[in-house]
Amino acid sequence: MDKIGIDAGGTLIKIACMGPEGGLELRKAPVRELSAISAWLGGRRDARVCVTGGKSAQLKAMTDEAVADIPEFAATMAGAEYLLGKDSPAYVLTNVGTGTSIHRVQPGGHARIGGTGVGGGTLMGLSRLLTGLTDFEEIVKLAQSGTRGGVDLKVSDIYAGAEPPIPGDLTASNFAKLFLRDDMDDIPKADLVASVIGLVGETVATTSVLAAGQSGLSSIVYIGSSFFRNEPLKDVVRAYTVLRGGTPIFPDNGEFFGAIGAALSAK
Ligand SMILES: Nc1ncnc2c1ncn2[C@@H]1O[C@H](COP(=O)(O)OP(=O)(O)OP(=O)(O)O)[C@@H](O)[C@H]1O
Ligand SMILES: [Mg+2]
Repeated sequence: MDKIGIDAGGTLIKIACMGPEGGLELRKAPVRELSAISAWLGGRRDARVCVTGGKSAQLKAMTDEAVADIPEFAATMAGAEYLLGKDSPAYVLTNVGTGTSIHRVQPGGHARIGGTGVGGGTLMGLSRLLTGLTDFEEIVKLAQSGTRGGVDLKVSDIYAGAEPPIPGDLTASNFAKLFLRDDMDDIPKADLVASVIGLVGETVATTSVLAAGQSGLSSIVYIGSSFFRNEPLKDVVRAYTVLRGGTPIFPDNGEFFGAIGAALSAK
């Protein structure tokens, strides 16, 4: 019998379908399609279903037959255990969804150790504000051709000519050059979205490395749909994590940890 796990988050619904032979089918839909997903579930009465995520209660309320649910963090951890192994040494897990949630995972237990409101939703909202774009793929593609030098202020910009006390390549202040420059003419949209991704990635990486340090850890596993086909964000997070002394890891199917964890819990 198939097991279906559904992680209905603030932006996207992630679905994991596990066949009896262990086959795994993964798909995503925007959260506005919650009622379509509920209707689809109505036609899958043959399967065992478990839902999770912030919108799971809404999904359950829309669905006729009784559906099991598990808490979001438990589902994410069950997915992590399945995909990364049960006995891996302790690590930090940072889920960059609409918002960002940071967890410590060790054999036999897990705890939420932090988070930040700067996440994938920030990437979408600020990019829309600055460019009018609303499509994730389009924003990411545009960011690939942008540069941040005219928007962000680096430590080396402030210390120009002098020896800085910290690496000059660190961002001293995201977006600060927009205040310091004489005019706001001719700032390419590509540069603005590249800088938004810089802001999100640097905040996520910095917060994660500090949280890891508090637990005496350095390995940080980054998951969540924000990284899906998003090399610019991965590049920023990778470089900033390393610069700050951490070891970044981006597992395959990182956006499906919660949905897979829910599917495993379907009874
Ligand atoms: N097709 C897409 N449409 C919209 N956003 C996308 C898409 N693909 C990737 N994203 C990015 O992924 C983010 C959502 O990630 P994810 O699906 O992990 O979060 P969520 O589970 O919906 O939210 P949360 O866990 O915070 O409730 C978006 O904010 C956006 O940055
Ligand atoms: Mg989520």
